[in-house]
Amino acid sequence: MLISVLGAGYVGLVTGACLAHLGNHVRVVDIDATRIERLRQGEVPIHEPGLDELVAEGLAKGRLSFHADQSATHGTRLVIVAVGTLDGDGEWTGALVERAVAMLAEDPQAPRHLVVRSTLMPGTAVGLERLARSIDPSVRLCFNPEFTREAVAVRDFLEPDRVVVGAGADAEDLVAELHELYAPLEKPILDTDLTSAETIKIASNVFLATKISFANELARLCAATGADVHAVVDGMGLDMRIGRSFLSPGPGFGGSCFPSQVRALPALARSVGVEAPLIASVDVSNRGQADWILDGLERIRGGSLAGARIAVLGLTFKAGTDDLRESPALRLAERLVARGAQVVAFDPVATERGVALLAASDVQVEPASTAEAAIAGADAVVVGTEWPEFRQLDWSALAPVMRGSVIADGRRVVDVDAATAAGLTVVTLGVAHAPTGPEPAAVAVPIATVATVA
Ligand code: UDX
Repeated sequence: MLISVLGAGYVGLVTGACLAHLGNHVRVVDIDATRIERLRQGEVPIHEPGLDELVAEGLAKGRLSFHADQSATHGTRLVIVAVGTLDGDGEWTGALVERAVAMLAEDPQAPRHLVVRSTLMPGTAVGLERLARSIDPSVRLCFNPEFTREAVAVRDFLEPDRVVVGAGADAEDLVAELHELYAPLEKPILDTDLTSAETIKIASNVFLATKISFANELARLCAATGADVHAVVDGMGLDMRIGRSFLSPGPGFGGSCFPSQVRALPALARSVGVEAPLIASVDVSNRGQADWILDGLERIRGGSLAGARIAVLGLTFKAGTDDLRESPALRLAERLVARGAQVVAFDPVATERGVALLAASDVQVEPASTAEAAIAGADAVVVGTEWPEFRQLDWSALAPVMRGSVIADGRRVVDVDAATAAGLTVVTLGVAHAPTGPEPAAVAVPIATVATVA
């Protein structure tokens, strides 16, 4: 099928490249001419495993093309709208989607079949359909959300658990085209109305974020009672009704989706007079996780972090991506500086950009060229992102060059046996592991005991 995609960002680019891989002819359109030119050269501007290969394949087979002008949608069977939904403050906005839909409806040569893929707040698509059909009654609109995670987006697209199609009025033909488009995936396709489809998307994300926050609050409780939160979530996860995924405690969730959506959904509820206290509490809980980790670090070190030199390992919002948006690792660095610490940071793919982003908020952090360089001379180490290389660090070589002897591992990636054998204390989300090897530079007290200290 000859189709077009509007927006060459995380969603549009993955969608276009994957649909081309499935045999369609796809024209990807973006107003950013520079981005389009780079894509024409096969240069993919986002760090997404497998995407480079799919773009190269699409270009080589002549199934994928990139255009800076909306006229490239002319003659295509349908256009998928995958433009951004975040405003300058990182909050959800439908403004760009609304403008794209209006421009397409106003262009009689553009397809009359519009498919919105950008995440929409429930009730938005009905408004978009009304707008489009007020311009041209022959427009048909569907909402087809994506459920792709960064760093695994290609796999999530090609192997989804389900495809969701929200159908607007009189959109039977468009629904059939979407079924044809997704048939090669051989996965369940759920047909529903526009608002239900929007709600499936946002509710899935907010539920996953709630699961994470539940695990994070469990970590706090377990630290105070002496339980091992990792055994707890493993035990819970074996219950098929709960499931183990998205139940790993950490420094909080970040990214361009969960944080903005756990704020947008309760805001929508309030706007329609609905009380949703559980949903509204998720953002508050998430924001507090970094400080809980740092409170534990202060307690185990026996005092304030003011003046301490702290190495922060990882700045991106999760491993496998270069995305720093609302990263909990950045929040850890920012909160450390707020506590008077001197922070030196390293990230395998985003040190400079992360340090610059912090500096733009007047948070001064020193960049390091390697994890080892950050750790040398540090009073303590804080792990903010679960990059695999942090599992391999040689603590027997690093402990002697640290000034202190505590690691606060917010991501459970540190080799506890190796680090404690090197004389370090490792605090893994509230669970303290005392040194087993050479005496540590500082006296370490089990956090369960410490946690009860006022
Ligand atoms: C999310 C949704 O998973 C995806 O379906 C949607 O389309 C886009 O938003 P993404 O934000 O890319 O995907 O990453 P995800 O893997 O979901 O992680 C989100 C955040 O939660 C990250 O900061 C991650 O570190 C954190 N997380 C995830 C946890 O802290 N614990 C977990 O168990 C899982």
